[in-house]
Amino acid sequence: MRLEDKVAIITGAGSGMGRVAAQMFAAEGAKVVVAEFDERGGTETERLVADAGGEASYIKTDVSREGDARAMVDHAVKRFGRVDVLYNNAGIMPEADHSVTDTDVAVWDQVMAVNLRGVFLGCKYAIPRMVEQGSGSVINISSFVAILGCSVPQDAYTASKGAVLSLTRSLAVQFGPNGVRSNAICPGPIETPLLMDWLLKDEAAKQLRLARNPTGRFGKPEEIVNAAVYLASDESRWTNGAQFVIDGGITVNYF
Ligand SMILES: NC(=O)c1ccc[n+]([C@@H]2O[C@H](COP(=O)([O-])OP(=O)(O)OC[C@H]3O[C@@H](n4cnc5c(N)ncnc54)[C@H](O)[C@@H]3O)[C@@H](O)[C@H]2O)c1
Repeated sequence: MRLEDKVAIITGAGSGMGRVAAQMFAAEGAKVVVAEFDERGGTETERLVADAGGEASYIKTDVSREGDARAMVDHAVKRFGRVDVLYNNAGIMPEADHSVTDTDVAVWDQVMAVNLRGVFLGCKYAIPRMVEQGSGSVINISSFVAILGCSVPQDAYTASKGAVLSLTRSLAVQFGPNGVRSNAICPGPIETPLLMDWLLKDEAAKQLRLARNPTGRFGKPEEIVNAAVYLASDESRWTNGAQFVIDGGITVNYF
């Protein structure tokens, strides 16, 4: 198994790509900490992993709160003895996030608190453990919107995901010498509740996005998590500071 005995913290693992990640990581032999704000979703993921014969432990976590981030890392160490992987996946994309000209400060701050401060806090508490161990893998979920402009803006979301990419590079350089690798994944539009709840209400918005994709479809969670399994495993031992754009080709599409 590719992740035998590795301990992985996966944030936002109560839904979408995070849940699929918990399932796929456990199937590859990892012990998974399900760090999730939504108790129902988090405990359901824990149960799904256990039903499939894997090991997972849920801890209620709001990644934007420092005490919760500390407790999440402590939980991993107490329960499983170490932290090999920090998979910063939790993220939000509120409908009220538009252009800078019409986005409320409260919405901007909320997006930054979860999508960016959450990554900062996870790293703040997990990386020192990894440095102590002499090894670790940080996987940060950014987005294809971090590297493209969009005429249908979600400016707080876009800015938060751009910052996650920059932070990933800084982490890679700082902690690479300690055996801690940091990489980012930039998914294109993926069929998860985050995107579908919003697009299902607006057929025109959905068709607009599909028309831009050379594959003519949205991605599936496992098509992103496959890359995360690689980054969590020792197969990627020399992969550091990379950004994997997995989007069906949207970002290389001129027309
Ligand atoms: N779906 C897409 O098209 C897409 C594209 C690019 C990037 N992403 C990113 O991928 C990641 C996962 O997205 P998804 O599509 O699976 O979304 P999702 O909404 O299905 O899952 C996100 C999970 O994060 C949890 N969460 C939200 N706020 C939290 C907090 N403060 N603390 C802990 N958990 C919290 C939610 O409860 C939910 O379970 C996000 O960072 C998202 O921005 C998604």
